[in-house]
Amino acid sequence: MVNRQTADGVIEAIEASGRHYRDSIPMIASENILSPMVRRACDSDLHGRYAEGLPGRRYYQGCDDFDTIEEVGIESARRVFDCRFANIQSTSGTNSNMGALKSLAKPGEKITAVSTADGGHISHARMGAVGVRGLDLITYPWSEERMEPDIDAASSMIRKEEPSVALFGQSVFLFPTPLEELADAAHEVGAKVMYDAAHVLGLVAGGQFQDPLREGADVMTGSSHKTFPGPQGGFVISDSEDEKLHRRLNSGIFPGVCSSYHLHHVAGKAVALSEFEEFGESYARDIVANAQALGESLASEGFDVIAEDRGFTESHQVVTRHGETDSGAGKVAAATLEKAGIITNMNMLPGDTKALSPSGLRLGTPELTRIGMGTDEMQDVARFFARALLDEEDPSSVRSDVKEFKGDFQTVQYCFEPGPAYPGL
Ligand SMILES: Cc1ncc(COP(=O)(O)O)c(C=O)c1O
Repeated sequence: MVNRQTADGVIEAIEASGRHYRDSIPMIASENILSPMVRRACDSDLHGRYAEGLPGRRYYQGCDDFDTIEEVGIESARRVFDCRFANIQSTSGTNSNMGALKSLAKPGEKITAVSTADGGHISHARMGAVGVRGLDLITYPWSEERMEPDIDAASSMIRKEEPSVALFGQSVFLFPTPLEELADAAHEVGAKVMYDAAHVLGLVAGGQFQDPLREGADVMTGSSHKTFPGPQGGFVISDSEDEKLHRRLNSGIFPGVCSSYHLHHVAGKAVALSEFEEFGESYARDIVANAQALGESLASEGFDVIAEDRGFTESHQVVTRHGETDSGAGKVAAATLEKAGIITNMNMLPGDTKALSPSGLRLGTPELTRIGMGTDEMQDVARFFARALLDEEDPSSVRSDVKEFKGDFQTVQYCFEPGPAYPGL
């Protein structure tokens, strides 16, 4: 019975987590929720099945129906991302990066990327996928003012270092990368240009951010569950005409970094891609409008919002400063907000050196947008922030108002069958 109680305890904790999110304002920029149809795909018999290889070329029997699913998904991905090549098998954004890096560079070769201190992702760092591939990392000079690589200095650096891969994209991603200029420098020295769209994939596909494949990226990777509102997983995408590159990218994923992959999530991605074709553009537009409204509302409440001079943001993210560099003020703010029913994450800002005691917060609007909040509600959200952090009101009284406010936003939208956002509770 002890084992049974342990299992029951896990189920109870899952339900408690669901209730926590249902009753809160979830603002983690990398998170999203599933549509009912995508949820059905993920909760299907495919969960227990195996496939290796590509549709029509499998190592297992039983894959005929799944072949249809993956083929449909690849075709939808080619339309959604307007590209010649799409691999929809990878199990996460990091897994996509590992597969792509395996295809594009050999151990010991050079790669240029944004440093984690400037908002780059750990998979772009020595401690992550770049290190696992044994690549020699050099990070770009950074413009703190513009929150993007310093175009002239980074172009000269690429020309001098002659990397095999010039990697772009960040986890703190407020503004489009000046990709055309930087890709020109990379191509001049024979580098492949890789753009990590993990965070902004839905905005890119919805035509609301930048168009990396037309601005010089040879390969684009991304997560399928952030601004692109699908199940956990990844994509590897290219518009190159080079079929040898397509084959290398496929084999970077299998057998490179996956054997079987998560078939139920591939099916979920295929459904999410179809939904995105119908609703993606308006979803992406609303996400960005909400982020801009949130930035303005927080600034009007008296918060120090990063990049005010550039209009705060052109993406789904807003970044706020809560104290001195390395003060840990971001950590304190995130903890207070959670007590008040607002879920965020602390984040390093330019100048911070300690990931566990940073001075900032990174806020995202994908989930709030998906449950129907608009720019008016961003003012309400900013008011809750001010009550919790500036007015220092008792967090539990803010929390009960947050719960009531959230009661009106319980339906997942921008999908074929709008339904409960936090089902089964
Ligand atoms: C720029 C960037 N790349 C890759 C990833 C990894 O994505 P995943 O969590 O799907 O592995 C992230 C995650 O937030 C990211 O910000």
